[in-house]
Amino acid sequence: MPTNEERLYRLDEMRAEALLGGGAERVDRQHAAGKLTARERLDLLLDPGSFVELDAFVTHRSNDFGLAEQRYLGDGVVTGHGAIDGRLVFVFSQDFTVFGGSLSEAYAEKICKVMDLAMKVGAPIIGLNDSGGARIQEGVVSLGGYADIFLRNVLASGVVPQISVIMGPCAGGAVYSPAITDFTVMVENTSYMFVTGPNVVKAVTHEQVDSEALGGAIVHTTKSGVAHLAAHDESEALDAVRRILAHLPQNNLEAPAIATSMDPADRLAAALDSVVPADPGKPYDMHNVIGGIVDAGSFLETQPGWAANIIVGFARLAGRSVGIVAQQPAVLAGALDIDASMKAARFVRTCDCFNVPLVSLVDVPGFLPGVGQEHGGIIKHGAKLLYAYCEATVPKVTVITRKAYGGAYDVMSSKHIRGDMNFAWPTAEIAVMGAEGAVNIIFKEAIASAEDPAAERRRLVADYEQGFANPYIAAARGYVDDVIRPSETRARLIGALEMLSNKRDVNPRKKHGNIPL
Ligand code: HXC
Repeated sequence: MPTNEERLYRLDEMRAEALLGGGAERVDRQHAAGKLTARERLDLLLDPGSFVELDAFVTHRSNDFGLAEQRYLGDGVVTGHGAIDGRLVFVFSQDFTVFGGSLSEAYAEKICKVMDLAMKVGAPIIGLNDSGGARIQEGVVSLGGYADIFLRNVLASGVVPQISVIMGPCAGGAVYSPAITDFTVMVENTSYMFVTGPNVVKAVTHEQVDSEALGGAIVHTTKSGVAHLAAHDESEALDAVRRILAHLPQNNLEAPAIATSMDPADRLAAALDSVVPADPGKPYDMHNVIGGIVDAGSFLETQPGWAANIIVGFARLAGRSVGIVAQQPAVLAGALDIDASMKAARFVRTCDCFNVPLVSLVDVPGFLPGVGQEHGGIIKHGAKLLYAYCEATVPKVTVITRKAYGGAYDVMSSKHIRGDMNFAWPTAEIAVMGAEGAVNIIFKEAIASAEDPAAERRRLVADYEQGFANPYIAAARGYVDDVIRPSETRARLIGALEMLSNKRDVNPRKKHGNIPL
């Protein structure tokens, strides 16, 4: 019988072996590729010394295709829990040095175990992905393992925050786990996501493309909208996770933590009084408006490079987390198109899941016209945003800075769809459409028969602008609760959110709604 001392020595030996992953040579290869190891990543992500590993002694069970001779403690994924800013999180970090991080039955069970624990105690799940996909030697057992994870992703959706970081390959069906999670962060140049890789693409469509151009970080944060942020390096990506998490609660039954704010709640932003140009056709940068309103330096924009005609992201107002949804008049005049509708709808629902109040800044000329948009389904995609705002029960505060035209007025968190506090700036124009368009339709004949049609059109446009392009008709009906000075917006929003902090609102009981997908 071994002595106690010998048993302790054996334990230490095994722990040391588990730390090695696929061995020093493969670790060197990982570093040479500009990537950190699974454990180094966890060290960067988690508060120092907080990581508690589970299942370090798990190994794969297959003996096929030479696997009997190759068993690594931990089997290609490091799992456990730790803390981020003192808050409990569950993590899995795929280890590319063991069979290319490919997923086996045992490996999937390890991930499922931490997901189940996270659900049991109500804590976020963070997955660091770097994997060759299904472990080829294990065949369908590996595919089953993926499905077990997908199911848990779906059941956890809207219950605990889930964040994915892509730090290497993520291909085939494996992309669908990150796709279901709330946020996906990619690392530039070293990560990619695609359903089928360049070789299959070439064989099927004859298109010649490399991994980066097919599914790199820039592609997914500017063209597809699959990922939310692209980071220059792994450290920046992990920092982004910590920053996103700071705005989310542990689970759907809690509220996000309120931070201490150094920025006075009653700070006036004088520049906002002149930020909207007198000419309604002139753009301005809504980032300046957001910057003037929220706690200094607190805005964390997500998906900045995709559908830039709408801006979404987290910020703080007097330390309270809010989700900002704002038109960007400097891009496509802030019109709502297919991508912008999908981007904002998803963000609204993310905030609503996790009890983050919504602040909407509205300057929208309408939905984007065009054959491409209509044939692409702007009707069903625009309906997503309408649906998301209608359904949301978190506090909803809206500020109309300039245009709120047509259906887009209704959609953008209007009073009619349960906007709680709706403000307008004096520059607001709330109408069915802009003055030019309206006059051309309702005075078509009067203009045509006038002695000087151009002069008549100008006169009618001026009349229309005077009479209708303002916030007071909506205010007279209570469709906006107040017309406010732009410089006072911060204080008014903070006051409204404070007033709404105990808001209770429920939707009718149902299995689930049927959002137009
Ligand atoms: C088993 C794998 C593996 C896999 C890589 N390896 N992928 N082992 N199953 N899927 C092993 C390699 O044999 C090698 O082992 C080590 O990991 C590193 O791989 P390399 O090829 O040397 O690395 P690199 O050149 O960086 O290329 C990485 C790669 C490539 C692009 C990921 O390995 C690759 O294309 N792998 C196959 C990807 C794939 O087709 N997977 C199945 C997709 S379908 P050694 O011993 O040399 O270190 C899928 C379905 C998901 O995943 C299902 C969800 C429903």
